[in-house]
Amino acid sequence: MFKLLVNVDHVATLREARKAGEPDPVAAAVLAELGGADGIIVHLREDRRHIQDRDLRILREIVRTKLNLEMAATQEMLQIALEVKPDMVTLVPERREELTTEGGLEVQLNQDHLRKLTQMLKEAGILVSFFIDPELDQVKASHIIEADFVEIHTGTYADATTPARIREEFGRIADAVKFSNRLKLRVNAGHGLNYHNIFSLLDLTGIEEFSIGHSIVARSVLVGFERAVREMVNIVRFGGNKADTGPKRWLKLGE
Ligand code: PXP
Repeated sequence: MFKLLVNVDHVATLREARKAGEPDPVAAAVLAELGGADGIIVHLREDRRHIQDRDLRILREIVRTKLNLEMAATQEMLQIALEVKPDMVTLVPERREELTTEGGLEVQLNQDHLRKLTQMLKEAGILVSFFIDPELDQVKASHIIEADFVEIHTGTYADATTPARIREEFGRIADAVKFSNRLKLRVNAGHGLNYHNIFSLLDLTGIEEFSIGHSIVARSVLVGFERAVREMVNIVRFGGNKADTGPKRWLKLGE
């Protein structure tokens, strides 16, 4: 059966937009696990634009399923990973100016560096995954370096708009999954997956985990919006006394 790992970065993005304490990605992770998620994913970026070091450390303590840390292949991130010890590290390329991770790792061109990093992480008992484009050369290079997993980048498939392009990108993913399986590399997939485009991928065998963030956070804002407004209406109109549940007035001035 496929597994779902939930990326909570965008909960932190909302928090950082105000530099306020909420919403807390740690709380989102607890709810994701209650909802049945098989694991939690965060990307600690060099510029700390969403997830903070504090989030990662608390998540390491409270996540009961599996914690996957996405990170760039830098010395700083290696030290953090060796200290925090997530269950898995997914190595991703990172550029400051990008809105989100825009492409897969260049495994072939960075073999020596990635091999050293991979060895150190594995020696610390951390599973290592490479986020790669669905290209056979990248799969082969990941196999040579002895990554445990590859995560196939599904972003180009997700962005395709015509049936021909969607079929073409789906084919590239299917080929990469098959080739990885043949090399005994374990396979995850993610980026840009949503409540519509994931269905076709369920026809593929050989994928273990889906990594999904943005579409889940985006949907949660909408499916939770009406309730959040009702709760505030109850406070504004009735002093919080109408609903059986929900926020109650907790500070009375003058008492
Ligand atoms: N996998 C990797 C390596 C990513 O960088 C991201 C985005 O943080 C995802 C999966 C999840 O992508 P999305 O937020 O589009 O679901």
